[in-house]
Amino acid sequence: MKWLSSTARHYRANGTQAGPAETVAIAPQLAPDSARAPLIELDNLHKTYQTADVPVHAVRGISLKIRHAEFVAIMGASGSGKSTLMNILGCLDRPTEGRYLLDGVDVRTLDRDQLADLRNRKLGFVFQGFNLLSRTTALENVELPMLCGGQRRPAREVRARAMERLAQVGLADRAGHFPNQLSGGQQQRVAIARALVNEPEVILADEPTGNLDSKTSLEIMDIFQGLNDRGMTLIMVTHELNIARFCRRTLVVRDGHLVNDQPILERLRATEQLRLVLANEEEAQLTARL
Ligand SMILES: Nc1ncnc2c1ncn2[C@@H]1O[C@H](COP(=O)(O)OP(=O)(O)O)[C@@H](O)[C@H]1O
Ligand SMILES: [Mg+2]
Repeated sequence: MKWLSSTARHYRANGTQAGPAETVAIAPQLAPDSARAPLIELDNLHKTYQTADVPVHAVRGISLKIRHAEFVAIMGASGSGKSTLMNILGCLDRPTEGRYLLDGVDVRTLDRDQLADLRNRKLGFVFQGFNLLSRTTALENVELPMLCGGQRRPAREVRARAMERLAQVGLADRAGHFPNQLSGGQQQRVAIARALVNEPEVILADEPTGNLDSKTSLEIMDIFQGLNDRGMTLIMVTHELNIARFCRRTLVVRDGHLVNDQPILERLRATEQLRLVLANEEEAQLTARL
């Protein structure tokens, strides 16, 4: 799965042509699939937190549809309700009012166990702080979602699948490393491998590049775009416009309302942006030596 390894080493090893050109050739861009029923449907969704003093209306009547193979950025100021919305989309929290259909299933009808099962099968999570277990190797972190939930697999298969996902994000050679032996970008790639291991329908990422420098953020966006090219649905919270420009659609939330919903017409390709960054770095190094 070479198409996903997007480290500087990969580009250098392949030259500026082979890697990206090959990516284009083998990864036709899928248009969001409008023939199928929406993957996600929200109808007048509300979430009110009951606090000791006043109720907090974090989400105030959001309706929207997200189709298979979309790549959506959720934007908005701090406190606007983005994480609340993501927690509901991720079945980590329930709406106070309104309907949420995930792949045609009304999540209100499910009990705790059914919800956990749905979450485990359909959803992969990526967080700003990576959320890896610190005393556990990269490989074991990726194995974890396969050990939760109803499906029991033989240990050898669990290991092989986790290795495959680590290889997909270019980290096969770091399988035995602990999180504190990895860079932030590498930890986030482990988290992406973990999110992918149960073959979810959708990846939910809450500010996945929030703790990363701009080049490392490009590497993460490159992985996400590669997944989306192959039909994965991704929903990502970001407050950075230059990160949202790698997605296909932006939703803007303000004070719990959806105030803007539009396609991204001039989408950036992370592969190209990375190539520019690397070319600039090389030029700077050459100039420094003169
Ligand atoms: N568990 C909670 N209890 C009470 N209020 C909360 C809770 N989580 C979030 N809020 C409040 O809900 C609003 C939206 O928060 P959040 O969804 O985290 O926004 P964002 O992710 O856009 O920064 C904020 O006013 C926040 O303080
Ligand atoms: Mg938030």
